[in-house]
Amino acid sequence: MNFLSLIEAKREGKTLTRGEIQNFIREFTAGEIPDYQMAAMLMAVYFRGLDTAETTALTLAMRDSGDVLKFPRDERPLVDKHSTGGIGDKVSLPLAPLLACLGFRVPMISGRGLGITGGTLDKLDSIPGFQTQLPAARIMAQVHKVGCVICGQTDTMVPADKRIYSLRDATGTVPSLSLIVASILSKKLAEGLDALILDVKFGSAAFMQTKGAARKLAKAMVALGNECGTRTRAMLTDMNTPLGRAAGNWLEVKESVECLAGKGPADLLELVLDSAAHLLVQTRSAKSFAAARILAEACLDSGLPRQKWDEMLAAQGADLNAFNRKLAQDSTTRFVAEVNADKAGYVSKCDARAMGEVIRDLGGGRIMKDSVINYDVGVDRIAKPGERVEKSGGLCRVHAADPVRAGLAAARLKTAFQISARRPPPEPRVLEIILR
Ligand code: URA
Repeated sequence: MNFLSLIEAKREGKTLTRGEIQNFIREFTAGEIPDYQMAAMLMAVYFRGLDTAETTALTLAMRDSGDVLKFPRDERPLVDKHSTGGIGDKVSLPLAPLLACLGFRVPMISGRGLGITGGTLDKLDSIPGFQTQLPAARIMAQVHKVGCVICGQTDTMVPADKRIYSLRDATGTVPSLSLIVASILSKKLAEGLDALILDVKFGSAAFMQTKGAARKLAKAMVALGNECGTRTRAMLTDMNTPLGRAAGNWLEVKESVECLAGKGPADLLELVLDSAAHLLVQTRSAKSFAAARILAEACLDSGLPRQKWDEMLAAQGADLNAFNRKLAQDSTTRFVAEVNADKAGYVSKCDARAMGEVIRDLGGGRIMKDSVINYDVGVDRIAKPGERVEKSGGLCRVHAADPVRAGLAAARLKTAFQISARRPPPEPRVLEIILR
C-alpha cells in the first residue's frame, strides 16, 4: 500500500475506502508506517474530517487491531458506561457494583486522567493494594464470578488507539470529532458489549465546551455504536459545576462509598441511578425508564451494591482492612484548609474548571503524561449552586500536602465561587437524552 497517496487524497478532501483504512491501521499497528506519516494523516483528517462510513471503518479497524474480549454466553447482559470526563465525576465507581447487583456483567475498561479531568483508574489507585492492570483472562474470570471489574486496557487491546492517541496528543489533533468517536468507541466495542450508556459532558471543565458540540459528539457515537451492534444511548450532562461534593482521587472514592451506603450527594445519585436505568431499558430488562429507575433505587437501597463493592475490591487485590482504616479518617493529607465565604448569600457559581486546575496544581492530576500523582489531595464539602451560605460559612475544604500549597489553593478556590443575594434558578444536571 502506498500510504503517501492516501495522505495526499485525504489532504485534498477525498473519501478513503474501508479497505484503505483497514490496511493502513493494520500496517501502522505492525510498525510498518512511521509516526511522521501517521501524524500527517491525522492532521489531514483533522482538517478534512471523515464521513460516517470512513469513521465506522476506522473505529472497527482500530477495535480489531488487538484482542476483542469474547465472553461466554450468559443470561446476564454485558454493559458499560463511558463518560467524556469532568471534575468530581466518580459515577463509574458506584455504578459498576450497582449494575452487577442488577443482573448485568460489567467489564468496565477505564482510563487515566489527563490535564484537569480525573480518571477512574487514578481514583482506584488510591485504594491500598487495588490492582488496575489485569490480564484478559483475569478480567473475564472476575466478570463471570463477581459480575464487575474496573480496570485498565490490556497491552493487547486496541493497540492502534494507544499509539494514535499519543500522536494526536503531540500533534494538536485531539479535538477532531471523527478521531474522538473512533478512539472512544473502538475501546468500548472491544469489550463485546450488549449495551452502552454514554455520558457526554458540556461546560467549562468538559472536553466539549458547548451543548452544541457535545450534542454533535453524542449523536455521532450513538449512531455508530448502534450500527456496530451495541445498543447505545447518551446523556448530555452539565460540567460547569463539579459533580458531588468532593473532587480529588481518594476523596472521590470516599464519596462513592457514601453513595453506595445511601448517603451520596443528590447530583451524583441522579447520574448513577439514571445510567443504570437507561441500561435496564436498553437491554429490555425494564419496560420503561420510570420502572427501571425504581428498580435501580431499590437495588441501591438494599445495601447489596455496597457489599459488591468490597467483593470487587477484594477480587482486585485491595487490602480491605487498610481501605476501611483510610475511609475512617477525616483527611489523609497533613493539611486541611477551610475556604469561607466573604459574605452571606446563595452560591450562584462553583466553577468546575477552576477547581480542576487547583486540584491538578496540588499534585492531584497530571501536567505531563508521566507526572507522579498525590492521590490524597483534593477538595471536599463543596457548596453547590442554589445553596445558602452565611458570612464566614464554609464554601469547601482543601486537602494539601503542605501549608503553603493549602493556603494558595484556598485563595484560588475562593475565586471559583460566586455568591449572590438571590437564589439562582436550578440548572438540570441531565440536559438531554440522545437515542439516535
Ligand atoms: N477519550 C478517549 O479515549 N479518546 C479521545 O479521543 C478522547 C477522549
